[in-house]
Amino acid sequence: MTIFFDKKTKTFHLQNAQISYLLGIEENNSLVHLYFGKKIKNYSGNYRYPRTDRSFSPNPPDASDRLLSLDTLPLEFPGNGFGDFREPAYNLKLKNGSRITDFRYDSYKIIAGKPTLEGLPALYVEAENEAETLVVTLKDTLSKLQLKLSYTIYKGFAVIARSTQLVNDSQDSVEVNRLASQSIDFPNRELDLIHLNGSWAKERQLTREKVNTGIKVLDSKRGSSSHHQNPFVALVDPTTTEFQGDAYGINLVYSGNHETVIQKDPYDQTRVITGLNSFNFSWQLGAGETFQTPEAVMVYSSNGLNELSHTYHDLYNHHLIRGEAKLKERPTLINNWEATYFDFNEEKVMKIVEEAKALGIEMFVLDDGWFGGREDDFTSLGDWTETEGKIACGLENLSQKIHEKGLKFGIWFEPEMISEDSDLFRAHPDWALGVPGRGRSLGRNQFVLDFSRQDVRDNIYQQMTSILDRIPIDYVKWDMNRNMTEVYSVLLDSENQGEVSHRYMLGLYEFLEKLVTNYPEILFESCSGGGGRFDAGLLYYMPQTWTSDNTDAVARLKIQYGTSLAYPISSMGAHVSAIPNHQTERKTSLATRGNVAMSGVLGYELDLTQLSTEEKKEIKEQVNFYKQHRQLLQFGTFYRLKSPFEGNDTAWMFVSKNQEEAMVFYYRVLTEASAPLTTLKLVGLLEDENYEFDGKMIAGDELMNIGFYINPELSGDYVSQRFYLRKV
Ligand code: DGJ
Repeated sequence: MTIFFDKKTKTFHLQNAQISYLLGIEENNSLVHLYFGKKIKNYSGNYRYPRTDRSFSPNPPDASDRLLSLDTLPLEFPGNGFGDFREPAYNLKLKNGSRITDFRYDSYKIIAGKPTLEGLPALYVEAENEAETLVVTLKDTLSKLQLKLSYTIYKGFAVIARSTQLVNDSQDSVEVNRLASQSIDFPNRELDLIHLNGSWAKERQLTREKVNTGIKVLDSKRGSSSHHQNPFVALVDPTTTEFQGDAYGINLVYSGNHETVIQKDPYDQTRVITGLNSFNFSWQLGAGETFQTPEAVMVYSSNGLNELSHTYHDLYNHHLIRGEAKLKERPTLINNWEATYFDFNEEKVMKIVEEAKALGIEMFVLDDGWFGGREDDFTSLGDWTETEGKIACGLENLSQKIHEKGLKFGIWFEPEMISEDSDLFRAHPDWALGVPGRGRSLGRNQFVLDFSRQDVRDNIYQQMTSILDRIPIDYVKWDMNRNMTEVYSVLLDSENQGEVSHRYMLGLYEFLEKLVTNYPEILFESCSGGGGRFDAGLLYYMPQTWTSDNTDAVARLKIQYGTSLAYPISSMGAHVSAIPNHQTERKTSLATRGNVAMSGVLGYELDLTQLSTEEKKEIKEQVNFYKQHRQLLQFGTFYRLKSPFEGNDTAWMFVSKNQEEAMVFYYRVLTEASAPLTTLKLVGLLEDENYEFDGKMIAGDELMNIGFYINPELSGDYVSQRFYLRKV
C-alpha cells in the first residue's frame, strides 16, 4: 500500500494490491478525479480529460483557453459558481451573501495510519502500518477558507475512506449549507444503481435501477439513518452480478440525516455525492473553527457484489467494530419481548430462564417494561429507575439468579426518548425537541429528548449508569422508537437551529463513546424499532443491531439478504419467534425459522414455556448446532447464491476463512406442482479437495461446477434445507 505524488504528471496515486485511486491537478489548479478501480501498476499520466469546446459551458476566469470548462471536467470535490452547473459537493454562504467560492489545489500531506475523526465514528487502525492517509488541501484565497480532503487506503482491502474538513481561517463566520463526505465523477459509462430502501418491518429491500439522465436523491430527513433509506448505495455495471463485474459501494458512517445525490449529465457522466443531508442543514462556522464531515467508505470490487460485501464485512469486523466483542463469538439469547410484551413478573421470567438453560441458550434479555412503572407504551421513558415490585426479588437479585443458572443477563433501554407521562417530562418539559409555542407530534406516544444538550445527556447518563453500576449486566439493547419532528433546541440561537439534527448525533456519539469506554465488558446491541438505524455509525459503538422487528422467516430472507450487502453477519441480530408470526401471521416450520435466524446472530423471542416437547428438542438441537458452528456462521465468508428479490427460492452459504468448512442454506417460499428442478452450485471451496457433503465425499470442483440437485421431494411452502460441508 502506498500513496505517491508524481510531480511531472501532477497526479496522486493511492495504491494497494487490489485498487488504485488517481487524482490529478489541472493547469488551473482544479483537483480532478481520474480513476478508481482495479490496481494500475504504473499510471503513465496519459488519461486526462480531453479539452473540448462545449457551448454554454463557461471557462473559469483564469482559464488559458476556451476548451477548459468546469462544467464537464470530472472534479474531485465540485463547487458551484464558476461554471460547473451540476450538483455541488458543498454550498457555503459567505458574509457578503455570496455562495461563490473558488477552491484550488494548495498542498498535500501523507500520514502513516489513519487519524481519528473528532467526535465521529470512523474506520480505525490498530497499527500505523495498516493504512496510509492522504490529505489534500484546497484553498479559496479570497474567503480564507480551506477544504481538507482526506483519503485513507488500507493494506489488503479494496477500500478508500473519505471525509472532508472545512477550516475557516477568516475573521468572519461562514454558513455551511452542504458539505459532502465524498464526491466521485464517473466518466461516460452506463451504470446501475443499487440501494436499500424499505419501511418498518421491511428494512433494506434491494432495489436495482438504471442510472438515467437527471438527478436522483436518496436520503433520510427522519433524524436517523432510517428504515426507509439506508446510507448505502452501489454503482455497478449493467452486467454486474453477485459474481462478476465492477461494483462500487459507498457507505456513510453516520446514523442521522443523510443524502446521496446521483446525477447523470447530458454527456453520460455520472456524479455521486454522499454526506450529511443538506435539507434544513445550516451550520455557522465561526472564525478559526473547523467542521468535520462523517466518513464515507468506498469499496471497489471487480468480481461482483459478493466480493464487495466481503470487503465490507471484513473491514467492519476488523476496523470498525471495537471493544471486547470484536471478532468474538456472540452469545445466543432469549428475549422476552414477543413472549410477554409488558406483562411479565419474576415468576414468568424465571420460568423462561429455566427453559432457556435447559435448551442451552446463553443469555436472557429483559426487554421493555422494567422501569418507571411502565406497563404500556404511554409512560415512563426518561424515568430509568426500576419499577418496584414488578420483579418481586428486584433486578439485582434477578440478575444474580440468572447468573447462578449460568446465563448472562441483558436489559433494554431507550435512552433518547421521553414520555409525556414521566417524572422527567414533568420536571423538564423543555428537554424534548420542540418549537416554543407549537405542539409536539407524538410517535409511539413519545417525544425525542434533545440530545444536542449536555445537561440532558448528563442526566440520562447518570440514570442509566446507576442501573449499570448496581446490577451485573452483560448486554444492553439500546432502542429508539420514533423519528424526529419539530427539530428545534431551545438552547440554541435562531441562526443555529439548522445545526440541531447534526448536534444531536454528535451528542449521541459522545454519550456512546463514554458509555462503551466505561463499560467495556457490556455487549451493546442497537435497535430502532428493529433495523431503523442499521448503519456503520452505530456499529462503531455497538457491535450488533436488531435487524428488524419483523421476525417472520420469509420476510427475513429479503431483509437479511439486503442487509448483508454492506453489513457483516456478526452484526445482525436474528431471532426465532412464535407462529403464527406476530408481524405477518404466517406459519413457518421451526426448522425454517431456525435456518434463517442462524444465518445471523441467533436468538429466540418466544415463550419457551409454551413449547411442546418436540419443539424443545428441536430448539435444543438448533442451539447446540449453532454453538458448534457459530465461528463459521458469524465470521465466515458469506456468499449470496440466489436472491429472494428475483425468485421463489433463496440460497446463501458461509465458507470458513481456510475454506475447509462451509454451511449452505436453501429456502423455498411457495411450493409448485411439477416444478422445475433446482441445481445449486457452490462457491468458495478448494477445487482439489474432497468435502464430506450430505453423507458423501465430493470434490470442491464438482460442487462448484456441477453442483447438486435440491431434493425434488422437498414439498410444502416455506421449506428450507441446510448442508454442512467439511474437508476430508
Ligand atoms: C422496538 C424493538 O424493536 C422491539 O424489539 C422491542 O424492544 C420494543 N421496541 C420494545 O418497546
